[in-house]
Amino acid sequence: MHHKAPEYHVPILGPDVSKYLITDPNGIYVDATLGGGGHAEIVLKYLGPDGKLIGIDRDPKAIEVATKRLTPFKDRVYTVQAPFWNLRHILAEQGLATITGILFDLGLSSHQIDNADRGFSFQQRGALDMRMGPDAKCTAREVVNSYSQENLTRIIKTYGEERAAARIARAICKNRPFNYTDDLADVIVRHSYGPRKQKTLARVFQALRIEVNDELTHLEDALQTAIDLLKPGGRIGVLSYHSLEHRAVKRVFELGVRDCIGPVDLPVCACDRLPVLTLPRKRVIRPNRAEIAQNPRARSATLRMAQRLGVSAQPWLCHRGPLS
Ligand SMILES: C[S@@+](CC[C@H](N)C(=O)[O-])C[C@H]1O[C@@H](n2cnc3c(N)ncnc32)[C@H](O)[C@@H]1O
Repeated sequence: MHHKAPEYHVPILGPDVSKYLITDPNGIYVDATLGGGGHAEIVLKYLGPDGKLIGIDRDPKAIEVATKRLTPFKDRVYTVQAPFWNLRHILAEQGLATITGILFDLGLSSHQIDNADRGFSFQQRGALDMRMGPDAKCTAREVVNSYSQENLTRIIKTYGEERAAARIARAICKNRPFNYTDDLADVIVRHSYGPRKQKTLARVFQALRIEVNDELTHLEDALQTAIDLLKPGGRIGVLSYHSLEHRAVKRVFELGVRDCIGPVDLPVCACDRLPVLTLPRKRVIRPNRAEIAQNPRARSATLRMAQRLGVSAQPWLCHRGPLS
C-alpha cells in the first residue's frame, strides 16, 4: 500500500494571510518563520514578476525543505538560516532598508513536534533536546538537569503559566538526571493531580521549549524592528498560539496605534509622538471549524494584522523613560 509522506507543516489561515498581507504584488515580503515554506508559497503565488520574498528560519532543516519547495520561484526567493532577531542585519545584507510586508508564524512546525528526535513531544520517547536551531543557548536536558529548583519553578510558572510549578520543579529536582522526554513526562504526570495531567504536561514542555529557545526574550523587540522596517502602507501579520505570545503581539500593536505615550499624569502630551500603525482589521482572525477539523493544530491560532502609517520610525520608548 502507498502511504503519502506526512506534510512538513500545514499553513494556517493561508488565504487570510495572503489577502491581508499583500498590498503591492511587486513588493518585497519577509516570511520571518519560513518553516516548510507553506505560507511563503501561498504569498509567492499571488506576487507579480517583480515581487520578492526573503524567508528566515533558525532551523536548518526548515531552510532545506522550504528552499526545495520554493524552487519554482527561485529567482524571487532568498532563504536565510538565522533567528529573526537579526532581521535588520539580514535585510541590510540584501541591500534592503525597507519592506512591503512581513509575516511571523510563531512557535513550532508540525515537523519539529512530530519528529521524536527533536525532543518537543511528550507523547514520544526522544532525547531531551528542544532546540529549534543551532543558535539556541542550551538543550532541555541541560535545563532540567542543571537549573536550580527556584529557577525551574520560575520558568514553569512564567513560561508555562502552570499553577503547580513549585511542586513539579521539586519533583524534577528529586528525580533527575533525565535524558529522555518520556522519563520526564512520567515524573510530571505522577506529580500532577486531577484531570489536568495532560494540560500540565503540555505547559511544562512549553515552558522548557521557551527557555531553551529564548522565544519570548526578544520577541517584542523583533516585532518593533519589523514595524520600523515597513514602508508606509506595508503590513505585518502575526500568527500566535498561546497567551504569552498573544499578549506580546497585542502589546506591540497597541503601542503602535497610540499617539501619546508620555506620562499619563501630565496635563498635556509631553512626547509628541504620532501613531505608527493602524489596524486594517479591528478583530483578530481565527480559523473556522472546517479548518480546525482538518488541522487540529490550527485550534489555538490567532492572526493579528497591522499596517504601517506614513510617518517615519519613532522611538518606541518615551523620552521620559520606559512605558508603564
Ligand atoms: C509554525 S512554524 C512556521 C510554518 C510556516 N508558516 C509554514 O507554512 O510552513 C514556525 C517556524 O518558525 C521557526 N522559528 C521560531 N522562532 C524563530 C525565530 N526566533 N527565528 C527564526 N525562526 C524561528 C521555527 O523553527 C519553525 O520552523
